[in-house]
Amino acid sequence: MSVVEPKNLDWGKLGFAYMPTDYRYVSYYKDGKWDDGQLVTDPNVTLNECACVFQYSQSCFEGLKAYRTKDGHIVCFRPDLNAQRMHDSAVRLEMPPFPVDRFVEAVKQVVKANEAWVPPYGSGATLYIRPYMIGSNSVIGVKPADEYMFRILVTPVGPYFKGGAKPIVIKVSDYDRAAPHGTGNIKAGLNYAMSLYPIVKAHEEGFAENMYLDSGTRTKVEETGGANMIFITKDGTLVTPKSDSILPSITRRSLCYVAEHYLGMKVEHREVLFSEVPNFVECGLCGTAAVISPVGKINDHGKEICFASGMEKMGPTIQKLYDTLTGIQMGRLEAPEGWICKID
Ligand code: PLP
Ligand code: COI
Repeated sequence: MSVVEPKNLDWGKLGFAYMPTDYRYVSYYKDGKWDDGQLVTDPNVTLNECACVFQYSQSCFEGLKAYRTKDGHIVCFRPDLNAQRMHDSAVRLEMPPFPVDRFVEAVKQVVKANEAWVPPYGSGATLYIRPYMIGSNSVIGVKPADEYMFRILVTPVGPYFKGGAKPIVIKVSDYDRAAPHGTGNIKAGLNYAMSLYPIVKAHEEGFAENMYLDSGTRTKVEETGGANMIFITKDGTLVTPKSDSILPSITRRSLCYVAEHYLGMKVEHREVLFSEVPNFVECGLCGTAAVISPVGKINDHGKEICFASGMEKMGPTIQKLYDTLTGIQMGRLEAPEGWICKID
């Protein structure tokens, strides 16, 4: 049970933005090993001008959240899966993985140290946790660094999309997010660097996100810039795209379990053709930041795919999924074994 009161912030007004908090965790990798790690107060990082991260973008990151539950505890959601995914990202980027058990301990430590920044239960805000790792020593020929920095910062956030649970409009992108056999399935910083140009353009055109199709054939649904996609069929089945080049979202994997085991729904994790999208009745984006954001319309080069759930509110099935998942996360519903990690 947390006895530290949350800070006096206007929690309900928070957007998805960075705000420095009191402590961050840092561990350094040098001479072939990770040091013991510690909490520090300085939010700034000083690096050599030729650090590998600056030259060749050797970086990966994670995103998870801490919540205050109904009964006053501070918890986070399935941090072991973030630890494993960051391990996989590191391997693909020739970085030394940060040990999975130490990752979870470091998350607990940094959240505990910033307890006052965990928003109150029911405020609509959460504490976003951003672990990341960079190649930190100088490199000029193209090769991996020998030294690394693993850090975790935390920052209180509100909804990722303006309007919270209101349906958004997204567009089919003319750009590609991930190549076949590329890095789409890991959380590499470079995947997001390439998405900056298309997201700025999409925002200028009034769209909330880009929907990417498979770059090989442009016929299959992949995901958006920062979330996986879910669809609901007329008969209430949850359908979610399967592809080797999308990020294996922890929210999506959790939702599939919740749909099947809590709500008795049929779940299909399979290739989804873009041509079948108009047949679905509800659509949503799912991820740590997005939670589940309903999609009202998809704009395909001026042609609109409008979902039956409309632009006013979440469709009924996505609402049920949302209520169940957030109920588990905030302690209103019993969680499956191992999903909730208690911090206090
Ligand atoms: N897809 C992309 C590209 C993302 O950046 C994210 C965010 O982490 C997700 C999906 C959702 O993943 P998760 O549910 O693990 O946060
Ligand atoms: C997350 O959901 O944690 C992400 O990393 C997505 C990012 C686009 C904010």
